Amino acid sequence: MTTPENKTGQPLVHLGITRPEELSTLFAELRGRFDADCACAHDESSWKQFRDAWLGRKSGVLTQITENWLKPATLGLKRVVGASLNELRAHVESQIEARRIAIESRGEESSLLRERIDLSLPGVIRPIGSHHLIRQVFQEIEDIFVSIGFSVVEGPEIETPYYNFEALNIPEFHPVRDDMDTFYLELPPSSDKNAAPTPLLLRTHTSPMQIRTMEKQKPPVRVIVPGKVYRRDNPDATHSFAFHQIEGLAVDTDITFCDFTGTIEYFVKQFFGPSVKTRFRPSYFPFTEPSVEFDVSCPFCGGTGAAAGGGTCSKCKGAAWIELFGAGMVDPAVYGFVNYDAKKVSGFAFGIGIDRLAMLKYGIDDIQVFFQNDVRILRQFP
Ligand code: PHE
Repeated sequence: MTTPENKTGQPLVHLGITRPEELSTLFAELRGRFDADCACAHDESSWKQFRDAWLGRKSGVLTQITENWLKPATLGLKRVVGASLNELRAHVESQIEARRIAIESRGEESSLLRERIDLSLPGVIRPIGSHHLIRQVFQEIEDIFVSIGFSVVEGPEIETPYYNFEALNIPEFHPVRDDMDTFYLELPPSSDKNAAPTPLLLRTHTSPMQIRTMEKQKPPVRVIVPGKVYRRDNPDATHSFAFHQIEGLAVDTDITFCDFTGTIEYFVKQFFGPSVKTRFRPSYFPFTEPSVEFDVSCPFCGGTGAAAGGGTCSKCKGAAWIELFGAGMVDPAVYGFVNYDAKKVSGFAFGIGIDRLAMLKYGIDDIQVFFQNDVRILRQFP
């Protein structure tokens, strides 16, 4: 059987075509085949194959027609073959080009689709953390003291008994050590001669940094020391084996008890608001003399002891005052440990328990929440 394909491989006489009218069926057949092929070219590579099959210079269908039909055609047929060929060529060329554009733009469309970025889509929202409430309270207190000339220093949580006790005027067997149930660390003996003398302990307060600071620098000294401290307390709503303090120390040649109470009052008013009152009561610490305990008039009931809706204030338990922290004038004996001249310098020190302060200020009734780090609670203090 002669298909349109192999028809173009033979001269018209072999196909038995002698009259011009017969040509139109032949060309119509070819055109039909072309249109069918064209519809099959879906992508770039099938389009190229298709283009070469029709327009290829050596063996493309149009070249074959020129070679096999046109050139050997009788004079009677030549003009019609030429005209039909031109018509077919115009159709073939324009359709192949149209096909190329269609395929290309479809490619662009799909790559556009693939690479499409919708800027109006909401982004990936990653949860942003916040400072822990304890860290926030540290920051708040640091800001207050920095604003009046104190600097912030930090010290080791693992201490020697010398810094935690002896140099703070707490000799071995001093009964005060009983108040500070201490974690001692059992470390394997070290061969390093420079290693710290054992036993080591977890500092029970930030006060060792009083000593370390004064060892390093001459007066004037004005530092605060935020940090973690440890005591062997059983955990309950108000006790934890780890908690937080800020130590304060100011030493200079002319610091009086008035500077001391004035500074504390300034801090308390900054922290709780200008309407609170402060008072101090005699107390005892081996490293301060005199020692005091500072109280603040309850900021929640306005120092009345009564709750707004009747009954007693739940924060101060009706006492109208809240115990805040221990403090005092630096005991002259301490200066002896750091080579300060006790006759020339004076100063004050205080140790603020941060956890209790944070619980009071932010209405938290269980110290354990500070260590559980439940995000449902952390999120309430962004
Ligand atoms: N270090 C004491 C404590 O933890 C507090 C304190 C600090 C008292 C500084 C006086 C001066 O209880």
